[in-house]
Amino acid sequence: MAGAVWIGRDLPPIYRQGEAYFLLSVDDQLYLVRNVCPHRGGPLKFGHVDDQNRIVCPMHHNAYPVEVLLAQPTTVKLSEAPHGQT
Ligand code: FES
Repeated sequence: MAGAVWIGRDLPPIYRQGEAYFLLSVDDQLYLVRNVCPHRGGPLKFGHVDDQNRIVCPMHHNAYPVEVLLAQPTTVKLSEAPHGQT
């Protein structure tokens, strides 16, 4: 099971190839995850993390394990930028 999970809900919208994404931190690793619930497209970014490390959609409260969201083909794992570079 994944460890510490954090959703970047207060960050500005992130768009990639015309699709909305949100920043998800899992064990200090950052990912971009599509801001679209697999159920009916709700904004997962505004969900919450439950006590089983699942993201609970704000629309109909379906819960998705973080591992499932990370395994989506659209999820992007961000690599660290070298120090001193932006
Ligand atoms: S749209 Fe997310 S649970 Fe229905």
